[in-house]
Amino acid sequence: MNRYTKISCLFLSLFLSAAAYGQRKKDVPLYKDAKQAVEDRVQDLLSRMTLEEKVMQLNQYTLGRNDNANNMADPVNDIPAEIGSLIYFSSDPGLRNKVQKKAMEQSRLGIPIIFGYDVIHGFRTVYPISLAQACSWNPVLVEQACAVAAQEARMSGVDWTFSPMIDVARDGRWGRVAEGYGEDPYTNAVFGVASVKGYQGNDLSDPARVAACLKHYIGYGASEAGRDYVYTEISDQTLWNTYMPPYLEGVKAGAATLMSSFNDISGTPGTANRYILRDVLKERWGHDGFVVSDWGAIEQLRPQGVAKDKKEAALKAFTAGVEMDMMNKSYDTHLGALVKEGKVSEDMLNDAVKRVLRVKFRLGLFDRPYTQVSKEKERFLLPKSLAIAERLAEESIVLLKNKNKTLPLSGVAKLAVIGPMANSKWHLLGSWRAQGNAEDATTVYEALKKDFQGKAQVMQAAGCDFDGNDRSGFEEAKKVGASSDAIIICLGEKAQWSGENASRSTIALPQIQEELLMELKKLGKPLILVLSSGRPLELNRLEPVCDAILTMWQPGIPGGKPVSGVISGRVNPSGKLSMTFPYSTGQIPIYYNHRQSARPHQGKYQDIPSTPLYDFGHGLSYTTFEYGELKASVLKARPDGKIAVEVPVKNTGDTDGMETVHWFISDPVSTISRPVKELKYFEKQLIKKGETKVFRFEIDVKRDFGFVSNQGKKYVEDGDYYVIVKDKKVKIEVGR
Ligand code: BGC
Repeated sequence: MNRYTKISCLFLSLFLSAAAYGQRKKDVPLYKDAKQAVEDRVQDLLSRMTLEEKVMQLNQYTLGRNDNANNMADPVNDIPAEIGSLIYFSSDPGLRNKVQKKAMEQSRLGIPIIFGYDVIHGFRTVYPISLAQACSWNPVLVEQACAVAAQEARMSGVDWTFSPMIDVARDGRWGRVAEGYGEDPYTNAVFGVASVKGYQGNDLSDPARVAACLKHYIGYGASEAGRDYVYTEISDQTLWNTYMPPYLEGVKAGAATLMSSFNDISGTPGTANRYILRDVLKERWGHDGFVVSDWGAIEQLRPQGVAKDKKEAALKAFTAGVEMDMMNKSYDTHLGALVKEGKVSEDMLNDAVKRVLRVKFRLGLFDRPYTQVSKEKERFLLPKSLAIAERLAEESIVLLKNKNKTLPLSGVAKLAVIGPMANSKWHLLGSWRAQGNAEDATTVYEALKKDFQGKAQVMQAAGCDFDGNDRSGFEEAKKVGASSDAIIICLGEKAQWSGENASRSTIALPQIQEELLMELKKLGKPLILVLSSGRPLELNRLEPVCDAILTMWQPGIPGGKPVSGVISGRVNPSGKLSMTFPYSTGQIPIYYNHRQSARPHQGKYQDIPSTPLYDFGHGLSYTTFEYGELKASVLKARPDGKIAVEVPVKNTGDTDGMETVHWFISDPVSTISRPVKELKYFEKQLIKKGETKVFRFEIDVKRDFGFVSNQGKKYVEDGDYYVIVKDKKVKIEVGR
């Protein structure tokens, strides 16, 4: 081939490939071209959609638990190919793919379905409940655990989790305190952000990540008297300073979606609340993902008394800013008509559809709609995943009392493990266990046998059930206790006593459990109380008679291993409470960051103490830490200034240990009455025995000393502020 022929060939092939490219461009719509920008793809697809297709994108139905032909075939056939989303109750990628195929091949435009699910504290590798996670004060670990959940879920066909729940909650009667990170706004913000990062990573299209959902926007944790689904009374001040901060941080962290709440906020339901959904979330904060209603929350606007029928409920929720209807069948039935009647504008509809499509594009669903089929053992319970869950469970355990160093146990030849929780697997997983299998968990009894192998004989007896009046097991329990050198009594709550629709009127343990403990106390042996629950418990009768008390919350699959590690000394406990343990139920709501009162020295209860049994932040270690004085880089600062405050902490005990330093601020004199103290930062570090570590809080005056007005604006006043760590504080003067 001579030079000219070569050049002509080159031109010919360039021409042919350009033609082929042109051809492809003409045949393949822009929205299907992975190389195009997400916004262009969204716009292109939207321009091709009919009203009905748009409306269908805004609905979420459910897809059942298994692929059993009797039970699944119909539902798969019933699901419209144009549906926007499904709640996916299965862990089988094959089933997802079957349904997705229908959407891709039978809908006119081939729009993939987004599959959502409640992956709350793990998918198959269930790790501790969120309330416990916060007691670890280790957001890095929580991020890792959420990444494990994301990987297991996405590889099983789930693209989107309805998590994290970042509802500040101060009433332990409410079953859902288990699902959030406790009573403090900053704590909820930090752990909410950690989970968003763990779920989403840097790229939603990563086949091991899922989209997150901040819920329940907003104020659900303030449900009156701890009853579920009811009303809340929240002032603007409290809304902005207590309930909003975790959501603002979650949105800043890039959470793809939010879920509207069931409750009303001083009369306006979260699901019809234009101010918080449209004005604040979308306009002020610029969130460009979508909001899904809670399950049935749109049609519930009727019983809530703000809509006369489902159509009006659809209108109110949609115009307020709820883009996706979770199991109400209200948008699919009424939204089209509402648009045709001019009650919902085309612009608003288009904006809603764009938000849903945007998240789908970001998840890569248009380019990879199907989940790669893998074996369960390739995605579940991987050694690395189990190690993260176990470490998180270890760090979540809070040692509440340890009289005369009862723990760690040593020199015992016979150990009795008694109580309804002693050999339970099921209840250790807590509520919202996703695809968790109790058989994967180790009981406390099993774990202790292993840890004490060759050192002590471990004997077990239930003694009684979690509730009821059957005392027939007491005798055997007493016999086992009498023949031991120490008694570990494992009490607590059934898994179903917390979570959604699981309120209790008292946070005390059922009487039969308390009685069992009192009977065992009579044996005169060291008595160690191990608790498992989804909420703080009322322990005032039990506390004085126990030598040691620890709570393992609901630890998930690691089960009894971490707590057995603490009892045997394999693990040095480092958890601290993320929620106050009241002295008794009658103190509720009781939380550390209450406002200043008119007569702090008076106004006490006449019949019970007015202080909690265990404060927020309480938690013991097997070592001791000595805090030095706080040192500030400057004692005067401008409102836009920065200050660094340091505190040295020395491990003065005889074992290595992890310590969390909680940094609080207070503003004793302000235009409005502010909380007695507010957590603004925390840090956990390992400190070797004899070693001193310096902890440092970099203060941004406006961010950390400021307050949010009832219009949602952050401001800082001139005056004296205090930075507080334990009983030490330093005064900082702020002036212009
Ligand atoms: C709960 C949500 C949950 C949803 C889907 C609702 O009842 O309040 O937290 O995500 O159901 O299961």
